[in-house]
Amino acid sequence: MNIAVIGAGYVGLVTAAGLAHLGHTVKLGEANPDRVASLEAGEVPIFEVGLAPLLEAARGTGRISFHISNPTAVKDADLVFLCLPTPADATGRADLSFIRRVVDELALVVEPETILVVKSTVPPGTTVALHKRLADLGSSARLVAHPEFLREGTAVEDFLQPDRIVVGAFETLDADAVSALYADFGVPVVQTDPTSAEMIKYASNSYLAARLTFANALANLSEAVGADIVDVLEGVGLDHRIGPHFLKPGPGYGGSCFPKDTLALIEVAADAGYDFRLLRAVIEADEEQRQRIATKVKNAAGGDLNGRTVGLWGLAFKAGTDDVRESPATRIARLLIDQGARVQAFDPEASAPGILSTGSPLEAVDGADVLLIATEWPEFTTIDLGEVRNRMRGRTVVDARNLLDPATVRGAGLEYFGLGRS
Ligand code: UDX
Repeated sequence: MNIAVIGAGYVGLVTAAGLAHLGHTVKLGEANPDRVASLEAGEVPIFEVGLAPLLEAARGTGRISFHISNPTAVKDADLVFLCLPTPADATGRADLSFIRRVVDELALVVEPETILVVKSTVPPGTTVALHKRLADLGSSARLVAHPEFLREGTAVEDFLQPDRIVVGAFETLDADAVSALYADFGVPVVQTDPTSAEMIKYASNSYLAARLTFANALANLSEAVGADIVDVLEGVGLDHRIGPHFLKPGPGYGGSCFPKDTLALIEVAADAGYDFRLLRAVIEADEEQRQRIATKVKNAAGGDLNGRTVGLWGLAFKAGTDDVRESPATRIARLLIDQGARVQAFDPEASAPGILSTGSPLEAVDGADVLLIATEWPEFTTIDLGEVRNRMRGRTVVDARNLLDPATVRGAGLEYFGLGRS
């Protein structure tokens, strides 16, 4: 098929490379000329495991091309994937202006039966509203809601081996056309109406955010009653109704999706007259989690952070990415800095404005009163803890990811405070 992908961001690039890999001819439309030039020069503007070889292979077969003009990109396209940003606006609602602008731009340019595929995360009801907009503009283009479920760091794998495909269409014919792209995957396809498809995306992310926040709450409680959260969650996760995934306690969720999507769903609910109290409580508890970690660090530093040095391992919102958007690590760092601490951070991939980065994990702990581990990079588990102790001024490790083995840390002459471990 001829497919256009609009937006060479993280979702658009993975989608375009993945569709080319499946044998389709893909034209990628991107408004940023520098990005187009760098893609044409064979560069990959973002780091995502497996993306560079996939793009390279697509280039090799001549099945992918890059365009500054969207009308050029959609010429002869059977399907147009809209992979545009939908950031939170000042009220927490999703900003749909990018999508609206491109739909307006393409409404009368695409071939009459072209299917516009809304890949971006958009609030329930958006595709219905866009459909009406197309009709008002006199366009006969078709429209489908087809949310993505790509995790940063495993996005290529998530594209090629998804748990499920969700397609929300007004007509079965359109749903079938999009579903057919994935026929060889042999995974369940949920065909539904557009609003339900949009709900599935928000429901999935909000449920996952709630689930890990619940695990964090259990960790806090385990700590208070003297239970061990690692054993508790092992026992809980073995119930087949619950399962073991997404139950790791940590410093709260971050990244480009969960914070934005949970807030947006609350606003969607409010606009529809439903008070989503449960989700509001999740967001509140998540916020508290970072405060709790900051308080642990403060207590470890003797109750006052003024003039204290905190070595920070990790800035990225999770391991395997250089993304610091809404990162719990950077947000906790700022809480500490606001209370007078000097924070010296090390992250293998990420850096953050306003937070001092050092060249190695050991440099980060030089003269530190406390070491805080905020991102679960596996390389942090192999650092010589005797050397860490020698370089630190204090003795305490606050492990907000339960990454290290408490006995090993204590064996090196350090004090260990994890989450939910007595
Ligand atoms: C998420 C969704 O998983 C994906 O389907 C959606 O399309 C985009 O948002 P991503 O933001 O890349 O993907 O991160 P994910 O791996 O889901 O983790 C989100 C946050 O939860 C991270 O801050 C992570 O550290 C945290 N987390 C995750 C935990 O604290 N504990 C867990 O058990 C799992």
